[in-house]
Amino acid sequence: MSLTHEVFVNLHGNQKNMSEYSSLRRTFAIISHPDAGKTTLTEKLLFSGGAIHLAGTVKARGETRRARSDWMKIEQERGISVTSSVMSFRHKGLLFNLLDTPGHEDFSEDTYRTLTAVDSAVMVVDAARGIETQTRKLIEVCRLRDIPIITFVNKVDREGNDPFETLDQIHDELQLEICPLVWPIGMGNLFAGCYDFKTNEFTTTNNKSGIFDTTIQTNGPTDEKLDKIVDKNVLARARDNMELAVAGYAEFRPDLYREGHMTPVIFGSALRNFGILNLLSTISDFAPEPRQLLTDTRVVSPCEDKVSGFVFKVQANMDKNHRDRIAFLRLCSGRFKRGMKLFQVRTRKDILVHSPIMFMAKDREIAEKASAGDVIGIPNHGSIRVGDTFTEGEEMRFMGVPAFAPEILRRVHVIDTNRIKQLRQALQDLSEEGLIQVFKPDIGTSWLVGVIGQLQLDVVMDRAKNEYKVKVTFENTSYQTARWIRSEDKNVLDRFISINRSSIMADRDGDPVFMCKGLWELKYKEEANTQITFFKTKELN
Ligand code: G4P
Repeated sequence: MSLTHEVFVNLHGNQKNMSEYSSLRRTFAIISHPDAGKTTLTEKLLFSGGAIHLAGTVKARGETRRARSDWMKIEQERGISVTSSVMSFRHKGLLFNLLDTPGHEDFSEDTYRTLTAVDSAVMVVDAARGIETQTRKLIEVCRLRDIPIITFVNKVDREGNDPFETLDQIHDELQLEICPLVWPIGMGNLFAGCYDFKTNEFTTTNNKSGIFDTTIQTNGPTDEKLDKIVDKNVLARARDNMELAVAGYAEFRPDLYREGHMTPVIFGSALRNFGILNLLSTISDFAPEPRQLLTDTRVVSPCEDKVSGFVFKVQANMDKNHRDRIAFLRLCSGRFKRGMKLFQVRTRKDILVHSPIMFMAKDREIAEKASAGDVIGIPNHGSIRVGDTFTEGEEMRFMGVPAFAPEILRRVHVIDTNRIKQLRQALQDLSEEGLIQVFKPDIGTSWLVGVIGQLQLDVVMDRAKNEYKVKVTFENTSYQTARWIRSEDKNVLDRFISINRSSIMADRDGDPVFMCKGLWELKYKEEANTQITFFKTKELN
């Protein structure tokens, strides 16, 4: 029998109360720039957690992945993206839910929104490249929500930057206190292993295979045991650096980390399996359990008996054998049981969840029970949208599941004008899935589509053609980005809309959005209209 949450719970007895269930869970995401090693690290974490027997098959890597230009083809191959959306595994009595932040070509709003459903994040940085653009965007979202970040500096087995240079960059970019927990001794060809400041353990290799599987307990970095194993010059330099690191950086404060003010840093190598257990134990020991979350009426605690949760992602065509959409629901409280009726607050309807899906490592299976911190997939025919709150009847909506200002805006052009109705349906459905944002002009009829990543435009074209039988193309516009506009004074807002009518559009809910030709224009408008607030995000509930 494959591993289920229920088996896990049974292992720990049936008499648990809600706080025990949630304290045993860690729900997190890995953020990184392409090629930093996220896939390799994910595999190794799953492997260490015993979830897969042979590390190496989470998804396409390297050239295989770079060559994949046809998103729909990948969607058809399925299994891959289904299971990589959420991966659960156990380690030392804890249940880890690892949520995938789609990167590379499929970088999208989903990537951002996944971060609303986690309690912490692991940031992977390439030791030779430091923090890169895609990571920067994701850090911004983490910082907005004070999501605690553990940093994993990967590839120390290769020649990389000086560790202090990397740490300084992390400090400057994240504006966080830095605390190195695991330090590399040597780098590249001279890499000898890593030293854990918390446990004073040195992990190294004692054979030619290069596998870092030997752990030596020391009394500290000056312990003579190290002299017998590590090259004299490498060790002398590492000792100087370790002394500097201990003196120069703050001591680890779990409270500061959990509040999002400090990042513990682990130097390691995902490929060589170094630092993985240090990372896992840091997550187990310090990463937050499922958090309290804010709704429009009150704060919800994970220990409450009644089930509540929100949808952070909707995915269509999950599986060629399962043509429905799957809504990913992050449970925020209570103990969900298969067959439960959940109240969809937006539509005020009850939904019977008779075949929820849970994702254990590479398998999808029916979820019998799940608790706060877990993610379940609810199959549906389009009735559930991103931002929806589900409860056992209470009227409340979770806050903090936003739409993000698009980074690419295109005008939609339909080739056969007789199919306008189908186009409208396609755009509405795809925007409810959270794949795109659709904006309607105040004057005229041409819609704008807003996305975060270029690939989403290809997906829209493809799906419009295949599922709605309507051929669309996209034309450039002069707009660079968009801002939702609001004012406490309705007259002020109306006046602004009337003066800027050609640049005002309505989003899917009819809320006004100002389309800007560039950040310079935005700045100018903000300065000239101080009674109007220009928002980069909008709550979706
Ligand atoms: P990503 O998901 O963040 O994009 O990165 P991924 O894990 O796919 O890793 C990108 C490349 O970096 C891969 O090489 C991978 O083997 C390599 N890599 C990951 N971790 C380490 C490490 O700790 N040390 C070293 N030296 N390399 C590492 P590739 O050649 O692009 O792919 P492949 O041919 O190895 O599959």
